Amino acid sequence: MTGKRILLIITGGIAAFKALDLIRRVRERGVDVTPVLTKAAQQFVTPLSVSALSASKVYTDLFDLTDEAEMGHIELSRSADLIAVVPASADFMAKMAHGVADDLASTLVLATDTPVLIAPSMNVRMWDHPATQRNLQTVMSDGVTVVGPEEGPMACGEFGPGRMSEVPDILMALETALMDGPLLGKRVLVTSGPTHEPIDPVRYIANRSSGAQGAAIAAALRDLGATVEFVTGPADVPPPAGVTVHKVETAQQMLDQVQSLLPVDAAVCAAAVADWRVTDAADQKIKKNAKGDLPVLSFAENPDILATISQGKNRPALVVGFAAETDDVIAHATAKRARKGCDWIVANDVSPETGIMGGARNQVTLIDEDGAEAWPDMPKAQVATRLADRIAKAIA
Ligand code: C5P
Repeated sequence: MTGKRILLIITGGIAAFKALDLIRRVRERGVDVTPVLTKAAQQFVTPLSVSALSASKVYTDLFDLTDEAEMGHIELSRSADLIAVVPASADFMAKMAHGVADDLASTLVLATDTPVLIAPSMNVRMWDHPATQRNLQTVMSDGVTVVGPEEGPMACGEFGPGRMSEVPDILMALETALMDGPLLGKRVLVTSGPTHEPIDPVRYIANRSSGAQGAAIAAALRDLGATVEFVTGPADVPPPAGVTVHKVETAQQMLDQVQSLLPVDAAVCAAAVADWRVTDAADQKIKKNAKGDLPVLSFAENPDILATISQGKNRPALVVGFAAETDDVIAHATAKRARKGCDWIVANDVSPETGIMGGARNQVTLIDEDGAEAWPDMPKAQVATRLADRIAKAIA
């Protein structure tokens, strides 16, 4: 978001106080904020506090000759990368829907072709009213991005939809709206983390994958503008913000989820999927018995998700797999690339002495049709950035 400019219109509603926090958080991310307050907004927050937090002049009046001499309202509406209306009152949505321009804020929204995002905030009955719902449909079909509202307790004592989204959610929507990058408009699937294969309701077979590399890759692709579908097993590392998270437990669930998300432009299979599952996992907890009989587990092979994607009819233009090996890494990984039918393999040595599994750094070799390219040892985030750049070059 750094270096972007937002024209922030604050309209009159009790949620206007959240706009103050939003200004602070947006500016922390290097975004320039020019605030505009409607007359009603000034009943809820003062121009002085808005000005102090935004470190900017606050615009309030359509017919302010000083403002017009400095920067005309037309210019004001066009100089931003995004116009955000936070909160957007029912009245302001109605004006937007009908093209009313009777004050500075509504005139700015009408006089621009800059993208507009609104965060509605109003009483539940006002939100549910057919007039507001009609206006909502109109502004959405005009291309306006709408964040929220949420359902919850309201300042007026009622409960229901109409409560403005919280600042972190609005922030995320702003980030998405301001996003650009070579992967804008591309949808990329990333699998990540281990899978858990149940033995009984309380026990499972798993592996030591932390999900760190997969999460870093998803974040790097997001930063290049991609829409990321993040399918994750039970990982230690939390999923990154700004990606669509699909949580699964078993390999079979991961496969089903992946298939439901196809087609995509590219798939990166970074998950450490269990190769085997326990056949006939018990429905009840397996008990010790007095004779000391030991349970015997039998295994069945799990579906191979990477091979299924690579060889299926909805094959993405680019499929990237991982190969975690403990010996003869390049030979095994090269054979794996051919066997699975993927385009690239990112191979690494996960012998315990490397500290790669669960660690913060990685040393990988990228294998593609031209051969093997060893990358130096670097943090997992850097491996992710480099891989995402390469993906962008291949599919953008
Ligand atoms: O065959 P192997 O497990 O070593 O292959 C590793 C690669 O295959 C990784 O990209 C992993 O995500 C993927 N894989 C998969 N489904 C499996 C096993 C592995 O997608 N059942």
